[in-house]
Amino acid sequence: MKDMYILGIESSCDETSASIVKNGTEEIATVISSQIDIHKDYGGVVPEIASRHHVKNITMVLEECLEKANMKMEDIDAIAITYGPGLIGSLLIGLEAAKTLSFIYNKPLIPVHHIAGHIYANSLVKPLEFPLLAVVVSGGHTELVEMVEHYKFKKIGGTLDDAIGECYDKVARVIGLEYPGGPKLDKLAAEGEDTYKLPVPLQDDSYNFSFSGLKSAVINLAHNEEQRDSKIREADLATSFQKVAVESITSKVRKAIEEKHIKNIIVAGGVAANKGLRKAMEDVAEEYKINITIPPMKYCTDNGTMIAAAGYYAYLDGRRADLNLNSKSQDTLK
Ligand code: KG4
Ligand code: ZN
Repeated sequence: MKDMYILGIESSCDETSASIVKNGTEEIATVISSQIDIHKDYGGVVPEIASRHHVKNITMVLEECLEKANMKMEDIDAIAITYGPGLIGSLLIGLEAAKTLSFIYNKPLIPVHHIAGHIYANSLVKPLEFPLLAVVVSGGHTELVEMVEHYKFKKIGGTLDDAIGECYDKVARVIGLEYPGGPKLDKLAAEGEDTYKLPVPLQDDSYNFSFSGLKSAVINLAHNEEQRDSKIREADLATSFQKVAVESITSKVRKAIEEKHIKNIIVAGGVAANKGLRKAMEDVAEEYKINITIPPMKYCTDNGTMIAAAGYYAYLDGRRADLNLNSKSQDTLK
């Protein structure tokens, strides 16, 4: 088969990104325009502001990406686009750009689920080996997904309430860290000691997760300390929280390894950037002597590279969309 160059476009939250990837594994060029500094003042992503900035940035990001790759639209074989899930207004900007390019240059349009993108960020490290267990940990998702071949996803467990990234961000806010709190909390966790007692959530027989109880426990703890006029020890609280949050993931991963005889694990999503989780997952893999892949930091949070990589395998799976493709704020990975 001839080489395939896929242009991936991602705009589901606060990053406008375009990337060109060769054959699903080789990054040619990527441009990411982040809005973190804009949303920082509000303590979180403001959807309407995010959409407006996507409008402002999308053409520039696409032009810059092609320029960086030293390619023209004519050299691109297909366009992969995040159709969902995410913020609807943000998604629509990327989608309209992708549809327009697909129409003008007569290129196939490939719909990519955002989480499939996070999963396939790993194929930029090395080709996926099956069967595998994908540990999806992001701002909107916490799931265990089994894959027996490319583009066949079987969810075996998920969060019953908050996603782990969402929980990190809320706890970070309680501790007084600036948005986005997850990475800052991770950094602080390396400086403290595990002195606060927090409950490890949902130690049951399922592959599910729950983070709202843990979040409430931290909020209550902070309020109680405040009422007693004593100050929380931020670093210690960060360490204690991180330990429990990570353990709640690894305990279910261990269960899956033991019961389902998993041999390959990949970690996917923004929280895959978490140092505590990376180390704990590597330790689990070492203990059970199984293969593990964790994307480098640059592929963990939202980017067009992972969408282009996923788009290649979606293309091989026969997935195509026409100009009727619409964005979806929520959608199951399938
Ligand atoms: O995957 P992502 O970019 O967005 C979604 O698809 O949801 O993930 C963003 C989430 C945010 O909640 C952010 O705080 C969290 O990932 N995150 C981290 C770290 N880096 C990003 N959480 C904990 N530790 C980190 N180092
Ligand atoms: Zn994401």
